Amino acid sequence: MTQRVTVADLVAMKRRGERIVMVTAYDYPTARLADEVGIPVILVGDSLGNTVLGYETTVPVTLGDMLHHTKAVTRAVHRALVVADMPFLTYQVTPEEALRNAGRLVQEGGAQAVKVEGGGPLVETVARLVRAGIPVMGHLGLTPQSVHALGGYRVQARSAAAVRQLFADALALEEAGAFAIVLELIPAPVARAVSEVVHVPTIGIGAGPGCDGQVQVLTDLLHLLPGPLPRHARAYADLASVVSDALRRYAEDVRNGVFPGEAESFGLPRDLDVETVQAIAEEFRTWRGGGRDGTRPHGR
Ligand code: KIV
Repeated sequence: MTQRVTVADLVAMKRRGERIVMVTAYDYPTARLADEVGIPVILVGDSLGNTVLGYETTVPVTLGDMLHHTKAVTRAVHRALVVADMPFLTYQVTPEEALRNAGRLVQEGGAQAVKVEGGGPLVETVARLVRAGIPVMGHLGLTPQSVHALGGYRVQARSAAAVRQLFADALALEEAGAFAIVLELIPAPVARAVSEVVHVPTIGIGAGPGCDGQVQVLTDLLHLLPGPLPRHARAYADLASVVSDALRRYAEDVRNGVFPGEAESFGLPRDLDVETVQAIAEEFRTWRGGGRDGTRPHGR
């Protein structure tokens, strides 16, 4: 049996200086591929709001949406640690409510851990989940669920005070029991310094190479959505054009009668010949042509 990656494995990887790879996945096929190539951490990100559901932000994503996609991912994944994002307002109201919601992502969704956005104010909640046996990943810097308060998707920690706050939040999350912290859109030297100070792994996105690991949004990495990518992303494929090209060729083949061909079609079984099929067709054709006033030919 394949051994599941654990949160302790990730902390050990940081200690050994082994970089951690994390990618988002939202469905069965891509989660299966990510697991099969050996990616150790798969995040069912609430970025699915933008990348799969077509929302402008992650704010409208519900616990129901997260459960639906987390279940699809966990059906596919046997080795990677699956982390499910807790959506907006499912963990900010009270620690007890957060525990109930996180519990659903783990118990019904099959995730091994959850991720929450924010620092100091979440300490009690993180500690509550951890005490209940739910591993928690933190998320600092640009926290997309707060996009309206932050005024856009901007690089964070750009003043000494903000850097100080980032350190304080990272250490508070670590002390509350978070097993890793995502650092999003943070100047590279700041993210490196935070990564050197905290003992748990940092996973960067738009935070430079000094983090203990990196995460990318799958649709960016595959360039599946047409249009420009965020500056911090790198496309390892151009699936938007591959998919568009395939769809165009399929449509053309259908229109030209080239699809389906013989290879994609089924012939008659041995005890049924074309003449019999045509005789049956003739019977029905005559009935229709005769104004349907005779007895309708019957099926079996
Ligand atoms: O939802 C998401 O995909 C994320 C990553 C950007 C870390 O939170």
